[in-house]
Amino acid sequence: MTTTGFAAVPRVSRVGGRVRVPGDKSISHRYAMLAAIAEGESRLTGYAPGADCAATLACIEALGVRVSRVHEAGGPDAIVIEGRGPLGLRAPSGPLDAANSGTSMRLFAGLLAAHPFTSVIGGDASLSRRPMRRVIEPLTRMGAAIDAHDGRPPLTIHGTSLHAITHLPEVPSAQVKSAVLLAGLHADGRTTVKEPTPTRDHTERALEAFGGRVVREGDTVAVDGGQRLRAVRADVPGDISSALFWLALAAGTPGADLTIEGVGLNPSRTAVFDVLRRAGAILDLPDLRPEGPSDRAIAGEPSGSIRVRFGQPASFEITPDEVPLMIDEIPGLAALAAMQPDVRMTVRGAKELRVKESDRISMLARGFGRLGIRVDEYEDGFTIHGGPPAGGEADAAGDHRLAMAFAIAGSRARGPVHVTGADAVAVSYPAFFDELDRIARG
Ligand code: S3P
Repeated sequence: MTTTGFAAVPRVSRVGGRVRVPGDKSISHRYAMLAAIAEGESRLTGYAPGADCAATLACIEALGVRVSRVHEAGGPDAIVIEGRGPLGLRAPSGPLDAANSGTSMRLFAGLLAAHPFTSVIGGDASLSRRPMRRVIEPLTRMGAAIDAHDGRPPLTIHGTSLHAITHLPEVPSAQVKSAVLLAGLHADGRTTVKEPTPTRDHTERALEAFGGRVVREGDTVAVDGGQRLRAVRADVPGDISSALFWLALAAGTPGADLTIEGVGLNPSRTAVFDVLRRAGAILDLPDLRPEGPSDRAIAGEPSGSIRVRFGQPASFEITPDEVPLMIDEIPGLAALAAMQPDVRMTVRGAKELRVKESDRISMLARGFGRLGIRVDEYEDGFTIHGGPPAGGEADAAGDHRLAMAFAIAGSRARGPVHVTGADAVAVSYPAFFDELDRIARG
């Protein structure tokens, strides 16, 4: 790949061996933020190397938190964060920059709403288009005042002392749930979020890992205000959303037999395995019984190795109720469908895709279309008709997951494939193209 992000995609014909993926993005953001408001020095290994999680670290530094990157002899590099304790963040001297990261912006909105100063948080062009009313509304009900531009970034957050609320998010969203819970940590009383459709529970697990108390009952999750968190030493497992691209490549390549090591296997992220199996992949997963070695602590994040083999390709659907649990995996699953002859993938109930890092329905349809794949677009989803791709040039539209999806499908194309804007992978997986080149070399 060149520095302008124009990537010639290597042709892959054999997929085998072992790969490791970068640390989980969702978990990294949460550990960094909780470490910032905990008491004592936290040490994080496996922290996600992409630009999103770097933005979170830069924001906590701008909020007066000391962060150092330590090279440990014989061990992985660690991020050391000196926590400032509850309500210990300091007013930043300028606007905070969440770059491309919706998670940073929405979770910081929750944290900052409780701090008694005014802060501004903005981001890049993509983030500036994303909807923020979903966090502004509950945080305003808790007592904060937040200014935005027609519900979009930048946000000016006038923090204050907050009172607890019960919140029922309009769309299932782990980011909204987390923003409200982080604000609730500092509010007066018990803050509750009701989630008829469950979303990833990394905030709940991270709070418990930092010594916090989270009350989970049925479809509600609640925190009491005034809790103190203690620093941790924690290892971030590999990101299942990054691993999905290699799972898709193996599932779409005859004869493939690949093992992905050290992947986070939190049950709120693994529903995608059912879809891969329906699509014909053969998956071997570690035993995830709660008492098993891979789920060491209830508060922690289970992890383990996944073996994936090529099976019998089949058409598959993602139903609306499955969407929230695999929203980030849909581009990679589309790549799988685009590789396979005589296979169709349909997803409905996925309107949220239109407000991700790009409009992932129309940009995905356009990109795969450029590679010679037929895509029927709906307001809330799409049907992708199997390939393999003929070849051509697809534009990532500034979206890291689209860049990877086009590259994965393109690596099995009949003709040459180029991805423009491929440098977007730096958001979550800076070494993605190096790994793809390595796999392509066999
Ligand atoms: C995330 C939640 C999801 C996901 C995003 C990361 C998180 O967003 O798409 O990449 O870390 O909480 P929503 O909660 O808005 O669905």
